[in-house]
Amino acid sequence: MTDAQQRPVALITGAASGIGQALAVTYAKRGVRVVGGYFPGDPHDHHETLKQVAAVGGECLMLSLDVARTESVDAWAAAAMERYGRLDYAVANAGILRAAPLLEMTDARWDELLNVDLTGVMRTFRAAARYLRQDGAMVAISSIAGGVYGWQDHAHYAAAKAGVPGLCRSLAVELAPRGIRCNAVIPGLIETPQSLDAKNSLGPAGLAKAARAIPLGRVGRADEVAALVAFLTSSEASYLTGQSIVVDGGLTVRWPD
Ligand code: NAI
Repeated sequence: MTDAQQRPVALITGAASGIGQALAVTYAKRGVRVVGGYFPGDPHDHHETLKQVAAVGGECLMLSLDVARTESVDAWAAAAMERYGRLDYAVANAGILRAAPLLEMTDARWDELLNVDLTGVMRTFRAAARYLRQDGAMVAISSIAGGVYGWQDHAHYAAAKAGVPGLCRSLAVELAPRGIRCNAVIPGLIETPQSLDAKNSLGPAGLAKAARAIPLGRVGRADEVAALVAFLTSSEASYLTGQSIVVDGGLTVRWPD
């Protein structure tokens, strides 16, 4: 086996932007090979991820992926296995955010969001679990919206994100006999295309205002979430499973004014 073949391989959903893209670069810097999924329906240019990974000397394969469809997720994981012959980590990062007050919450809006943000996590982990090596690891991205706080006009998003830690705790127990760990990360306000969307999220002005309530005095960067995910999947976290860890600059532990 060559040195390159001994390097771990990570699956990342939603790797064409934001936290997923930052994670691809973080992994690349640590010698982890990446198989990212990009959603063709979104305007993000997945070549940007390839460029950034190449710039730090890493290896990345970007494949089309829709976490809302089982056949897409299964084919993506199988293609990764086919290409590299091993899978070590799976990161369920892909997500959508839509604003919808309760009285405008149609079943279709609810189902669309849950299908990506919660069922999409299960699909990702189910597909990955077929191949993950002994001592592999999984991480899903929850949110302080649902994971800690409620958020008006976002009940579907908060419900999905509240479900993620429960899913991870259960899989932590179920997959422990195989040595596979499963944890959730709960980000606070992180500057990415999702949070910069003023229609469905805070937008630039809302983020600037919210930053004043964050003890560290600023919103977070995508690479600061990526660093936590990379730690959780690494052997440095070998005894850590079933946990949900908040990364939010202190926002959720401050005393309200
Ligand atoms: P983002 O919008 O840049 O990333 C989300 C990615 O998911 C995009 O690349 C998008 O194309 C992909 N995606 C959407 N639908 C998909 C589908 N059906 N199949 C496959 N991929 C799909 O935003 P960000 O912030 O990087 O989001 C990453 C994760 O972090 C999401 O789960 C989000 O909910 C979560 N999060 C973000 C926070 C923030 O402040 N930015 C805070 C808390 C959680």
